[in-house]
Amino acid sequence: MSIIYLNDKKFTPYLTSLQLDVEIKRLGSELSKDYEGKRPLFIAILNGSFMFASDLFKELTIECEICFIKLASYKGTKSTGQVITSIGLDATLTNRHVIILEDIVDTGKTLNEFLPQLLNQQPASLKIAALLHKPEALAYPVKIDYLGFNVPNKFLLGYGLDYDGYGRNLKEIFTIVEE
Ligand code: IMP
Ligand code: MG
Repeated sequence: MSIIYLNDKKFTPYLTSLQLDVEIKRLGSELSKDYEGKRPLFIAILNGSFMFASDLFKELTIECEICFIKLASYKGTKSTGQVITSIGLDATLTNRHVIILEDIVDTGKTLNEFLPQLLNQQPASLKIAALLHKPEALAYPVKIDYLGFNVPNKFLLGYGLDYDGYGRNLKEIFTIVEE
């Protein structure tokens, strides 16, 4: 791994694929233990979480389902953005054990707006699994139940995370170099 450039920005390696693999295997065995016999439903939030969801799902040794939802947060010029759903949920959550899969929880805005919609359907339980979390950026009361890594409040790239749509295909996670 080495320095990479994307558009006008410079990025340096931060988490190797081995580090990601070790944490995802740990999360997979923890979830497999906690949800044994519960036939949980995982909901992965697109786009960012597709790689994490795919790798984590392969580590699950229990009977379980996965579905996908696409959420987009419009930040615009004001800090009060809104989260819109551009691919909807096609599963019924009533009485199901549900786990949300997120690539990264930053301010928590996305989950804070999305969770009440899910709770409306009265799932048996609702938990959050996130690969990454920026504790310093958290501005909404979101509790992460299964976490890979706490990370500094800096822009990250790779392993599903993008910069203007690019960089999702990188196998490692990079962090921005401010110059
Ligand atoms: P939140 O609503 O502020 O918690 O942010 C949620 C979404 O913003 C995440 O699911 C990511 O898609 C995106 N995001 C947050 N931080 C980063 C980052 O450092 N790099 C790339 N995308 C990010
Ligand atoms: Mg995301």
